[in-house]
Amino acid sequence: MNKQKRTPVIAGNWKMNKTPAETFAFINEVKPLVADADCKVVFCVPFVDLAPAIEAAKGSNIAIGAQNCHFEKSGAFTGEISAEMLKSMDVEYVIIGHSERRQYFAETNETVNKRTRAALAEGLKVILCVGETLAEREAGITSEIVSMQLKVALNGISADELENIIIAYEPVWAIGTGKTATSDQAEEVCAILRNLVKELYSENEAEKIVIQYGGSMNAGNADELLSKPDVDGGLIGGASLKSNDFSIIVKAASK
Ligand code: 13P
Repeated sequence: MNKQKRTPVIAGNWKMNKTPAETFAFINEVKPLVADADCKVVFCVPFVDLAPAIEAAKGSNIAIGAQNCHFEKSGAFTGEISAEMLKSMDVEYVIIGHSERRQYFAETNETVNKRTRAALAEGLKVILCVGETLAEREAGITSEIVSMQLKVALNGISADELENIIIAYEPVWAIGTGKTATSDQAEEVCAILRNLVKELYSENEAEKIVIQYGGSMNAGNADELLSKPDVDGGLIGGASLKSNDFSIIVKAASK
């Protein structure tokens, strides 16, 4: 399938890093470094950083996203944020189902599906994360695990809605560990996921959907990972906190 039909997306996931003041300064600093990007550039920031990030990114090619949202519209859910709240602030993207949410906050395939549907219903673009643990990879069940995660997450989602979904393949063992998947390992799983989209929807949808790799992607390895036919971008943790490193990854995706 033709990679040229897809625009790569490089998204930073700041996780629990940076204060509002640091956010405002950082986005202003990174703006000129990515201004001529030939790919989409997104920063997914903590909730309290959304307003300063949006303010600083105004008029630039940087889009801003959140890192989670709840599936209910409103109500007694202490500490949660709804998709409608995000949309009302002009947030464009939201990460759903990150492995840290699954690991530490009891996120399941079912709640990932509910959150995805709620976000899409509000018109947000979803970066949907899937990925296997080291034990699952060693047991030889990577394909089954990521396929199950994706299938359940996409349950009830139409082909039209799929246009607002980016899939992020993030092997849990490669996140924050400095252990990157080899480009062949990344390609293998991204191709499995694209094939599954073809089975669930059609060849056309499979050819259009952007599939990112995430897990210790950095300025040194981005080129190689992004050269693979089914790797359309990256979801970047640590390296998205440094403007120079991040801009090198954006340049690699812009080729
Ligand atoms: P690192 O790039 O720090 O490994 O994090 C990847 C990630 O989890 C992005 O969502």
